[in-house]
This record gives sequence, C-alpha cells and structure tokens, in this order.
Amino acid sequence: MRGTVIVMMPGRRVFLLVFAAIASMQCVRAQTPDLVTRGAYLAKAADCAGCHTAAPVPGKPPPHPFAGGLPMGSPFGTMWTSNITPDPQHGIGRYSYEDFARALREGVTPGGKHLYPAMPYPSFSKIDDDDMRALYAYFMHGVEPVAQTPPETKLPFPFDQRWALAFWNFAFAPDKPFTPDPKRDAQWNRGAYIVQSLGHCGACHTPRGPAYNERGYTQSSRAYLTGGTNDHWYAPNLTGASGAGLGRISADDIAAFLKTGHGAGLVTFGSMVQVVEDSTQYLDDQDLRAIASYLKSLPANGSGGAYDARSRLARQSVAALRIGADERPGAGLYQSTCARCHKSDGTGEPFKYPRLAGNPAVLSQKPDSLMRLVLQGGRAPSTEHGPEPKKMPAFADELTDTEIARVLTFVRSAWGNDAPPVTTRDVRIMREALARH
Ligand code: HEC
Ligand code: HEC
Ligand code: HEC
Repeated sequence: MRGTVIVMMPGRRVFLLVFAAIASMQCVRAQTPDLVTRGAYLAKAADCAGCHTAAPVPGKPPPHPFAGGLPMGSPFGTMWTSNITPDPQHGIGRYSYEDFARALREGVTPGGKHLYPAMPYPSFSKIDDDDMRALYAYFMHGVEPVAQTPPETKLPFPFDQRWALAFWNFAFAPDKPFTPDPKRDAQWNRGAYIVQSLGHCGACHTPRGPAYNERGYTQSSRAYLTGGTNDHWYAPNLTGASGAGLGRISADDIAAFLKTGHGAGLVTFGSMVQVVEDSTQYLDDQDLRAIASYLKSLPANGSGGAYDARSRLARQSVAALRIGADERPGAGLYQSTCARCHKSDGTGEPFKYPRLAGNPAVLSQKPDSLMRLVLQGGRAPSTEHGPEPKKMPAFADELTDTEIARVLTFVRSAWGNDAPPVTTRDVRIMREALARH
C-alpha cells in the first residue's frame, strides 16, 4: 500500500520515506526491549541462572551471572555448567538463533557436541517459538558478556563418549512440541506448558529409569511427577495422592508455596529452596495459579504414606508424647530436640516452622530428604514477598544414626501420619554418602 502511495505522489516521496524510517525505527526500539524483558522473565521461569552461575565463595566478589562453573553432581560424575553469556569466545555470542534453539531443544551445540541431559533439553524441547525468540533476544542483548572459561567436564569412560547420547536421545528424549489440550481451558494449558517446558519440574519430581531417563514428560505417563531422587534430595509426589501428594493442599496454597516458600503450613526445604529463590518467586500470579491448577488436575498416582488425624495411631502418639512410652523411643527424642519448633502436636508455627502432621513431604515413600535435612540442617527460602527465613539446626553431631532413625520413624507415624519406618542402616548410608559429597 505504502509503495503505491509513493509511486502515485512522487512529491511526497521523501517525506513518506523519512516517516516510514522513523516509524520502523521506533518499532524496533519499542519491540526489542519488550522482547528482552520477556526473555528475562522466561529465563527466570527456566532457572537458567540457577545452574549457569557458579556458587559464591566467601570473601570473593560474587560470581558473574550465567558465566557457568557450577558443579553438578550426577551418578556418572561431576558436570560443570557452561558460560552462556554473549561473549563470542567463552560464551554463546556466536550462536545464531537456530544454534540457540537447537542447543536448548535437542542438546546439540553448533560444534556438534552432544550435551548431557543434566541440561534439561528434554523439557526445553517443548518451549514454543515465541518464547525461544524472546530468550535468544535476552541472552544476546540483556546479559553482560563475561570472558571466562568454566572447568571442563571430564566423566569417566564410557560416559565421556558424548556421541553415544545420540542413541539416548533417540530412545528417551521427547521431540514433539507442546500441544495444547483443546478439552482443557486456557489456564490449565498455560500451567501444563510451564511445568513441562520452561519449569522442567519433572527433572526432579519424576522418577528416573535405568538409563537415567525421566519416566514420562507429560501427564499421559502414570509415573510423571510421582517423585524422584536427585543429589540425595527426594522431590515429592506432585499428583493428587492424598497422603504424600498434593491431594489435601489447595491450589492457592500451592501458588503461595511457589511464591514465598510457605503454604498450608509447609516450608520449602532442600533443593526446592533454590527453585523458589531463583525462579518461581518471580512468576506472576497468573502463571502461579496456572501451575497450581495444572498440578491439582493430576489424578492420584505413585506410592507414599497416608494421613488420618482421627486414627487410633494418632491418639496413641499423643499419649506417647504425654507419658513418654518406652515402646516409642522416638517420642522422647522428639520432645527434647524437635518440639520447641515443630510443637508437641506437630503443627509447627505459621510462617516460621513447618507443620509435620499431615505434611506430604514427611509422608514420602522415600525418607531421603528427611534424613539429609536432619543431618545437615536447612534454611527456608529468602523471597521478596515471604517472611524472614528461619533455620533448622544440623543434628549430625548431636544424634546417632539410631536416634535419627527413631525420631524420624516417630514423626512418620505420629498425629495421624502413616509412612514406612526409617532404619539405622538407611541413616548410616545417607551419612556416608553425604560425607563423600
Ligand atoms: C538444571 C540445570 C540447568 C538449567 C536449568 C539450564 N542449563 Fe544449560 N546447561 C546445563 C549443563 C550441565 C550444561 C553443560 C552440559 C554438558 O557439558 O554436556 C548446559 C549447557 C548449556 C548450553 C551449551 C553451551 C555450550 O556451548 O557448551 C547452552 C546454550 C545452555 N546450557 C543454555 C541454557 C539456557 C538458555 C537455559 C535456560 C533456558 C539453561 N541452559 C538452563 C545445565 C542447565
Ligand atoms: C532441583 C530439583 C527440583 C526442581 C527443578 C523442582 N522441584 Fe519442587 N521440590 C524439590 C524438592 C527436593 C522438594 C521437597 C522439599 C520441599 O517440600 O520443599 C520439592 C517440593 C515441591 C513442592 C511441595 C511438595 C510437598 O509435598 O511438600 C511443590 C508444590 C513443588 N516442589 C513444585 C515444583 C514445581 C511446580 C516445579 C517446577 C516449576 C518444581 N517443584 C521444580 C525439588 C525440585
Ligand atoms: C530451631 C527450630 C527447629 C528445630 C529444633 C527443628 N527444626 Fe525441623 N525445621 C525447622 C525449620 C525452620 C524448617 C524449614 C527448613 C528449610 O526450609 O530448609 C524445618 C523443616 C523440617 C522438616 C521438613 C518439613 C517442611 O515442610 O519443611 C522436617 C521433616 C523437620 N524439620 C524435622 C525435624 C526434626 C525431626 C527435628 C528434631 C530432630 C527438627 N526438625 C528440629 C526448624 C527446626
């Protein structure tokens, strides 16, 4: 149209050209910052900085964001994350958009190097094109280049044979883009998209198979989000299971938990603390509600303990705490070492100390997270909208393996909680594994 005008009215040609040039410049200027800002938000949702930034060292300047160098433990050895700043030599400054999209979706770099799936490309394969372009704009124009090379990943044979990952990808990595379900509403589809793609929640919350593959990448698999262990933290069942899952937790409480680390009396701990601090606290309320509504739609699946506050077991534990019954030695330990924060009735204190009665993480099939937390202690997440974080002390020096097993067995069977006992052997194995860590 504009071309026609120019041909028909040559006298106005210069004016029109200048006008068109200014208009298009303003368009570029208005669009790029928007795209970069959106990309920054998506990078938070995907927690790129969480993995691609080195750990701070006391007394040294804080590490550069995205310059890589975080060691990631895996059953195969330690992997180091890459520098993904736009530095042309040390980072990804020479990546074209296509290179970037291929690295994120297929785990293959421009040099043809296959990335280990510690980089969650199986989930990122579901990132849509609009979001991928915004992420690329952010990494090219919104991130400071850093000239710094992180340590090289050297895994022992045969895991150093990166080419073999092509077969792994063929067998296990999904290659289909996210497809919305027309039978569900927009909120559900938005939640499913974030959880499955950017959020890569399944990387921790889905159990892994023998080849370290996640057993499912969508709700069409029964194992999806039913709980998984990574780095000695057990990420609990997020399906509707009523004991160890989210069955009794409301959508509003899930959204609050992701934004502030507190919801329904639960407090974020373990590797989820970083997820909340670096990523989910920055999501807007609409996206948090979408995630919660998707998680609440997942039918109960997976194993784990049960909860019934009115059971005979519940009444017995209250009596044991009062009279210090000998047959439940954990009760006395709980009273003397834990009750000052978590309270005798296991209800904790809102926004300070988590409730342990009916807490799904406490009822998890595997007690790994509980043992690790009692041995090493922890700190609640520090967030913009949440309360001042409280600490849980470490009990590694204070309690023996048998005492930890007893107190956790008590906690898992008190107040109506009903989950499998923890053995001295379980705690000893965890203590040894953490010492080698
Ligand atoms: C859970 C941790 C994790 C998250 C989250 C993560 N990455 Fe990675 N990424 C890695 C690891 C580990 C590697 C190195 C893998 C290897 O050496 O095979 C890597 C490698 C890469 C590479 C290849 C760089 C190169 O040339 O070696 C790119 C590009 C990349 N990540 C981009 C991103 C972006 C963009 C995001 C966010 C959208 C992201 N990553 C989120 C762990 C992560
Ligand atoms: C790095 C591993 C990791 C990732 C990634 C991760 N989680 Fe978690 N998550 C955990 C661990 C470990 C716990 C147990 C500690 C706790 O309850 O805070 C947990 C707990 C939770 C809980 C509380 C469950 C309960 O029963 O108490 C919710 C809800 C949750 N995660 C949602 C998510 C969502 C949504 C995502 C993706 C946006 C996600 N998580 C990504 C590790 C992870
Ligand atoms: C000084 C107060 C304090 C004491 C004493 C204490 N805890 Fe905790 N506990 C906390 C805090 C704070 C958290 C949240 C930690 C985090 O977010 O990393 C927590 C978290 C937990 C959790 C995870 C539940 C959740 O939703 O976060 C369990 C299980 C637990 N404590 C068990 C125990 C046991 C067993 C003992 C006694 C051996 C004990 N605690 C003693 C303060 C305490």
